[in-house]
Amino acid sequence: MRSHILDPITINGMQVPNRTVVPAMVTRLSGEDGFVNQAIIDRYVSYAKGNVGLIIVEAMAIHNSKSGPLLRISDDSFMEGHRKLARAVHAASDSKVVPQIIHFMKVARSGWRQTIDMLSEDDIKGIIRDFGAAAKRAKDAGYDGVELHSAHAYTLSSFLSRHNKRRDRYDGRSLEGRLRMFGDVMAEVRANVGDDFPVGVRFLADEMIKDGYTLEDSRLIALRMAQLGVDYISLSVGGKFEDAILQEGLPPYPYTGYSGERCMPGASFPKMPHVHYAAAIKEMINRKGYDIPVISAGKINAPADAEQLLKEGKADMIGMARQLLVDPNWPKKVMAEREDDIVPCVYCNVCKQLDENFKEVTCFLWPKGYKQAPAYDPALTPPTWDSEIPLQAEYADGIVKLKWQRATGDVSGYDLYRAEDNGDVKIIQAKKGGKFDDKSVLGGLKYSYYIRAYGKSGQSSAPSNMVELDLPFSVS
Ligand SMILES: Cc1cc2nc3c(=O)[nH]c(=O)nc-3n(C[C@H](O)[C@H](O)[C@H](O)COP(=O)(O)O)c2cc1C
Repeated sequence: MRSHILDPITINGMQVPNRTVVPAMVTRLSGEDGFVNQAIIDRYVSYAKGNVGLIIVEAMAIHNSKSGPLLRISDDSFMEGHRKLARAVHAASDSKVVPQIIHFMKVARSGWRQTIDMLSEDDIKGIIRDFGAAAKRAKDAGYDGVELHSAHAYTLSSFLSRHNKRRDRYDGRSLEGRLRMFGDVMAEVRANVGDDFPVGVRFLADEMIKDGYTLEDSRLIALRMAQLGVDYISLSVGGKFEDAILQEGLPPYPYTGYSGERCMPGASFPKMPHVHYAAAIKEMINRKGYDIPVISAGKINAPADAEQLLKEGKADMIGMARQLLVDPNWPKKVMAEREDDIVPCVYCNVCKQLDENFKEVTCFLWPKGYKQAPAYDPALTPPTWDSEIPLQAEYADGIVKLKWQRATGDVSGYDLYRAEDNGDVKIIQAKKGGKFDDKSVLGGLKYSYYIRAYGKSGQSSAPSNMVELDLPFSVS
């Protein structure tokens, strides 16, 4: 039994049933009108049915500025939808649901973008008021708390940034100046929601850009946020405009550059590249007497890893965005001790690309045409192999060519497992079809492969035959 990950936690009165968190993930399921619709409700109910402890609803705008499809909470006309969403999640399980509220600045197809030094004092007062009003709406709608989006390329994060060019009360030349806007917003939010309503924050542990801030500052930013009374800290990294790759005729997009890649680290990154940030930040705030939970995210998806991070005190809660997108039933399967049924994320980042192109965010690993993750049916029979040796592999010119015969039964796809040099077995790919070229092998090492077919609900076939290849070493 995974005792740590399934432990409950109370956050300013909010009783979260376990330590799993789905961090905010834009779905692009709403129209440009920003209203909650049935598809949005279905998405968040699927996390509740999967027993995710804390569900953060995707970033929603606190103001009326134009954008692509994005939820809004910027006036009372949006309340009915939010009430429905909060009610539906609560009806599905004891998961807690908290919206992430965001202010962002203008961007144009010409490549121009508004920066915080262009904001007048009145603009700033308006932003502070809008945060307070949106937080109050979140409370009135029946959500369990509210999360202030102070990460990535958006307004609050830009005040915290070392690229802040303001020279007034919010002066970017000092850390204290950079922190002032968050302090003003936090004071307004508290005045609107009271002391006993959970207010969390998402901010960057590292900007991941040239001359951006790093852990040296984020430890101190976290401490100040704790002093200002935030009830939890959720960490992210990167996702900035400064290194965005500009495309002719398209507005700049903050996840196109290297910092965007770090924010949603893809398959080429090692697992859990950002946990040391949470560990250092947690150590800092705990040492100064604050025990508010710190949430770590970024390529964490194995139950044993999540459990270990909590056990070692490197984080208080585990954020899994893409993993819970592919399989919202992760917590339920861990509770039932059916971890083998989890459909693992392979970090192909198709979801990231859909988001970037303003298309509905779905997962490549779901059965074709599905708009939501399939429901979990523990009684479904796993796929089976007809042949005793379905998998074959051969090596030539730096590439291992794998092909396999299809499994029978309810098959959604195939996970490819690989061990390098008799080391740990990793899932390197998930495929719908029957072949894959492994181009990231090194001559001179030994590689072992097997595959498993998985069905809609996640139940996997037995492993196929294992193929072992000793690759020849050559430098020519
Ligand atoms: C499609 C998509 C949309 C996202 N939208 C948001 C968002 O609205 N707010 C936010 O703070 N982070 C957003 N993120 C970042 C995730 O919350 C998370 O920090 C990141 O994906 C790394 O965690 P993971 O490796 O568990 O996916 C998004 C990520 C993806 C893939």
